[in-house]
Amino acid sequence: GSLTGLDLRAEIDRLRKERNAVILAHYYQKPEIQDLADFVGDSLDLSRKAAETSADVIAFCGVRFMAETAKILSPQKTVVLPDMDAGCSLEDSCPPDKFKAFREAHPDHIALTYINCSAEVKALSDIIVTSSSAEKILSQIPKDQKIIFGPDKHLGGYLSRKFGREMLLWPGVCIVHEAFSETELLKLKAQHPGAPVAAHPECPPHVLDHADMVGSTSAILEFAKTTDADTVIVATEPHIIHQMEKAVPEKTFIGAPGADGNCNCNICPYMALNTMEKLYVALRDLEPRIELDETVRLQAKKSLDRMLAMAS
Ligand code: 13P
Ligand code: SF4
Repeated sequence: GSLTGLDLRAEIDRLRKERNAVILAHYYQKPEIQDLADFVGDSLDLSRKAAETSADVIAFCGVRFMAETAKILSPQKTVVLPDMDAGCSLEDSCPPDKFKAFREAHPDHIALTYINCSAEVKALSDIIVTSSSAEKILSQIPKDQKIIFGPDKHLGGYLSRKFGREMLLWPGVCIVHEAFSETELLKLKAQHPGAPVAAHPECPPHVLDHADMVGSTSAILEFAKTTDADTVIVATEPHIIHQMEKAVPEKTFIGAPGADGNCNCNICPYMALNTMEKLYVALRDLEPRIELDETVRLQAKKSLDRMLAMAS
């Protein structure tokens, strides 16, 4: 039937109670989805929440690898993703068969893998990291241990430079963070002298070079709240600015620009597939649902559990 005329927010609230569902949302979701979620967070926070919740259903407003992570950690729960096409360019860059061949070509290396990958690639990895846990985890790995880092070459490169540690990098990128323009960023900085740039480590080095702070979405949000500056330039997906404006409405937040001079080209097209309508349908029908092969799930859980233990 038609969804027009439905009070979607009220219907979602009704279904969430009926289904004993928890709605988890990433900071890159649309404001109306962030505002109705039971919990909004970064990839590590969301993994922890998914592992802990006592709900029967997790409605995951994020991308597929995040919903898969929830299912890996909470297999007895029904995990729905409003749009199953919500993928990630990093996941797409790293097909499991190619990753397996890469590992086999470097048998003396362990695989430290960014959570932005498929369940199959997690299963082929030793330890998973997120942008907020990577530094803590890397610092616990013996200096002489050789490391493959995938699939994000920019996060890997950033960690390599910061730790003075060589790693074999898988050549994947996030298309969103890859789209920031250095020239436009320099113009913006000139217009707002003194405004710090907070950047996500998925940004290429020519953007990170101009950053005053580099960190995960939750770290960027914390920086925005606590910095003395009244204007902050935000070099990550611009939907996170919603949380900043809610937390510190007196400050000004400006999304770092792409080549066209505005930040619209930095909206993640995968995250944007989730809508209020699709979330309502997912809670109503309990579809589309994440299902995983049990062997893959158990293998992937080992590398995720190592992250959760090492990051705590
Ligand atoms: P974090 O929220 O963990 O920093 O991840 C950013 C991201 O790109 C998720 O897709
Ligand atoms: Fe993937 Fe980048 Fe979108 Fe995050 S923002 S889901 S890394 S494409």
